[in-house]
Amino acid sequence: MILENKVILVTGASKGIGKEIALLLAKNGAKVIVNHSNSDKEANNTVNNIIKNGGNAIVVKADVSIREEVTYLFDKAIETYGRIDVLVNNAGVMISKKIKDNTQEDFTKQFNVNVRGVFNTLQEAESKLADNGNIINFSSSTVKLMFPTYALYSASKAAVEQMTRVFSKEIGRGISVNALAPGATETELFLKGKSQETINKLSAMNAFDRLAKPIDIARVVLFLSSDDSKWISGQVIGANGALV
Ligand SMILES: NC(=O)c1ccc[n+]([C@@H]2O[C@H](COP(=O)([O-])OP(=O)(O)OC[C@H]3O[C@@H](n4cnc5c(N)ncnc54)[C@H](OP(=O)(O)O)[C@@H]3O)[C@@H](O)[C@H]2O)c1
Repeated sequence: MILENKVILVTGASKGIGKEIALLLAKNGAKVIVNHSNSDKEANNTVNNIIKNGGNAIVVKADVSIREEVTYLFDKAIETYGRIDVLVNNAGVMISKKIKDNTQEDFTKQFNVNVRGVFNTLQEAESKLADNGNIINFSSSTVKLMFPTYALYSASKAAVEQMTRVFSKEIGRGISVNALAPGATETELFLKGKSQETINKLSAMNAFDRLAKPIDIARVVLFLSSDDSKWISGQVIGANGALV
């Protein structure tokens, strides 16, 4: 129970990697705030699953790209559990198209959720995260690749990486700030619209010839949420099976 008594806010925890993170952190003793913006049923499932296994969690619906909703998210978490020790900035969206095919809306959506969303939560964390806490932002290993159709998504994640580095020196109070950059992971975000042939090709690009499962990523978040990782700060940590 390495997270006993820690309160952890996981954005985008109704599905995919965020859901697995919420389940694993709760199993290790954390009280978890399960955030989402649109999937009430799935978010409630995550929380019910945690409670059924003897854990402690609540759902707070809030769109991370909207400042007022993020303020509400932090205030509701503190009202319920008294403080927030760890912020996991997992919420994200991906629209893969060539630059020539992206619309203004595609650009706005990805930058609003992936970049403004992290910006909004970091601003709240500045005054509301507990001393000696941890922040884990989500980047992507695509930042280091030149995959056609990933330009805007990767650009939004590159912005997250740079905010991570700078914020790690700004916030102080013993708080560590890192980014985690997964490779291809078996979730709706990754699988949607891809043929089996494309999935096989992408799986073969890492050293294990498989996609990551959400639990592979959640285990790294468990470490980064614990006091054992305190001296790691301002870093981007790849979790991609030697993809890049
Ligand atoms: N899967 C991969 O291969 C991969 C690789 C590298 C990095 N990543 C990153 O890992 C993170 C998780 O991805 P995933 O694959 O687990 O995606 P996913 O299965 O699509 O889940 C995304 C989660 O984010 C939530 N979300 C989306 N927009 C939101 C908003 N505006 N406010 C609050 N929550 C929001 C979704 O819930 P609602 O729809 O209810 O809002 C959902 O819970 C993302 O940051 C992604 O970029 C994924």
